[in-house]
Amino acid sequence: MNLVVGIGLRSGTSYRELRDLVDAALAAAGGGDVRTVVTVDGKETEPGLQRLAASLNAVLQTASADELARQSVPTPSQQVARLRGTPSVAEAAVVLTGAELLVTKRRSINATAAVGRLHAAPGYPPTEREVVHRVLAERRDVRRGFVDKPIADEVLMRVLESAHRAPSVGLSQPWDFLLIRDLATRRKVHDLATAQRDAFAASLPPDRRQAFDGLKIEAILDTPLNIAVTCDPGRGGRHVLGRHADPRTTWFSAAIAIQNLWLAARAEGLGVGWVSFFEPGEVAAVLNLPAHIELVGYLCVGHVEQFAPAPELVRSGWAARRPLAWAVHHEEWGRRSSSPEDDAAQASGEAVAVGMQRVRLVIDGDPEEHLGEPDVLVVLLGPDRPLADFGVLWRPARTPVEAVELGVEVARDLALQGVGQLAVQVVEESERADAFVRGLRAGARACGVKDFQA
Ligand SMILES: Cc1cc2nc3c(=O)[nH]c(=O)nc-3n(C[C@H](O)[C@H](O)[C@H](O)COP(=O)(O)O)c2cc1C
Repeated sequence: MNLVVGIGLRSGTSYRELRDLVDAALAAAGGGDVRTVVTVDGKETEPGLQRLAASLNAVLQTASADELARQSVPTPSQQVARLRGTPSVAEAAVVLTGAELLVTKRRSINATAAVGRLHAAPGYPPTEREVVHRVLAERRDVRRGFVDKPIADEVLMRVLESAHRAPSVGLSQPWDFLLIRDLATRRKVHDLATAQRDAFAASLPPDRRQAFDGLKIEAILDTPLNIAVTCDPGRGGRHVLGRHADPRTTWFSAAIAIQNLWLAARAEGLGVGWVSFFEPGEVAAVLNLPAHIELVGYLCVGHVEQFAPAPELVRSGWAARRPLAWAVHHEEWGRRSSSPEDDAAQASGEAVAVGMQRVRLVIDGDPEEHLGEPDVLVVLLGPDRPLADFGVLWRPARTPVEAVELGVEVARDLALQGVGQLAVQVVEESERADAFVRGLRAGARACGVKDFQA
């Protein structure tokens, strides 16, 4: 049984007094493993309490008097409220962790104790939890502001250890980390990225191209270390558990290792920029990789002046972040907290639209006929999957209602990618095309797309 012990105490209370009090309370609870000892902020430095937590092999955690005062407990005390700013410390501390109170407040001369049962393993204490969420929020893709400071070996090893601890399908650990410091090699890789940058720029409509020209997309030569993260699809042999039905899980595993690396690097103050402006085989050739090894990610790593508060693509107005509510479906695809159409109707155009890129949507048109123009996106609403092409958006609407919702979503997604003007042309009139255009109109209005023509 996982137990939590709440303790209130006067300063200087001895370990012996606390231990006797807690032992009696634990006996009354019927025994179990104490995972956490909780007290009020400020008491965590008490030597007797620290020794108690250590002797129980438990985490010592604190809560503020305000947090404790918000808990509902069986035996509140006015006197404690006057002294501590909360009517209960021991019981409230137990309740605050989400535990079920098993033994209510017991007293010794200088302390109180209560015991609760945790029905599930506890998470981290709040301050440690915040650090985890903070590193997730403050990880950035960094391409600018690298400083001339070498990466200490022990720092790099800690980062690689964390990457190497990633989950992997069947524990196949398909990744490897090729550390590249050599300038001549980095120059060759840089040339490949420059060529792909030029190719991408040439594919853009003029307005988008101008915005792209201001963006930095790699830091291959600005960083002291590049890391090529690779995947060996055959790692683990024939019968890797969990891979047989979905081989993509091997590449997922390698990608997760990169995320671990990225987060650990952030915690160490190291900036990481992922560069994917490559045809992976060309990088593999420059790096002389064995033919069975595939490139998953190419990372530029170094110390930085600062970590920006938001993604560079957001700060530059290239793209916007997608609200979480748009990404969460309940039980059935498309069932969100509120329907996209209702969202769209209620929104006042306060805008995710971040740019003025113009896109011409050609609904149910022939891709071959229309894709010559770089600002065209062909949308196909029929049930047959078209050939893969980023210029073709397949949205197989099963019903007119779904067509409306898909229309809202497409308008939203385009607005997130800097589209501020939408011109719509329906090639083949149909009920679903009509519904889709209604959705587009609503979504465009809701997202602040300035110019909508249909
Ligand atoms: C698979 C992948 C490939 C990426 N490729 C590039 C790239 O080639 N160049 C670039 O500037 N950023 C690249 N990025 C970084 C994204 O632009 C960045 O993660 C996104 O804008 C969000 O910003 P943040 O990582 O700072 O939160 C890549 C990110 C991922 C996950």
